[in-house]
Amino acid sequence: MKKKFYALIGAVILFGLIQLVPFGHDHTNPPIISEPKWSSPQARALVKKHCFQCHSNETEWTWYSNIAPASWLIAMDVIEAREHFNFSDWKTSNEDLDELKEEIETDEMPPIQYWIFHPDSKLNEQQKQELIQALESSI
Ligand code: HEC
Repeated sequence: MKKKFYALIGAVILFGLIQLVPFGHDHTNPPIISEPKWSSPQARALVKKHCFQCHSNETEWTWYSNIAPASWLIAMDVIEAREHFNFSDWKTSNEDLDELKEEIETDEMPPIQYWIFHPDSKLNEQQKQELIQALESSI
């Protein structure tokens, strides 16, 4: 009984302590520099819905993105994703279309840690084709 109590106290203290780690609290969205020439507002909206959360400077920082350890995982995803390519800092050489298509077709993107928490972002075959079409016509 006592052991369980100490374990619980320990867990609470540990949870409190990890909140003090500085990494993961920087939620700045840098300015938007340039975007692809979207073929239509719908095309942009579609890509925004599924990819902007990590690959753009329009990340929506949800309440749980402030709480460690979720904050660490989300911040790492966004940093890494923006490094690969950034729809808000778009240069034609950024990422080729084939790579984008492949990631979508093989269900690599959007990644599981995203659609698990945003189920409406999980793509079915038809949505995949629509998203690819939106990218093809814009890039
Ligand atoms: C939850 C954050 C997140 C979302 C949403 C997301 N990505 Fe990514 N993406 C990443 C991360 C992190 C990486 C780098 C690590 C990796 O390859 O898994 C990445 C890498 C990539 C790469 C490069 C892959 C490689 O191996 O070089 C492509 C292409 C890509 N993403 C396309 C997309 C597309 C298209 C969408 C929208 C359908 C999307 N991503 C949505 C996080 C995300």
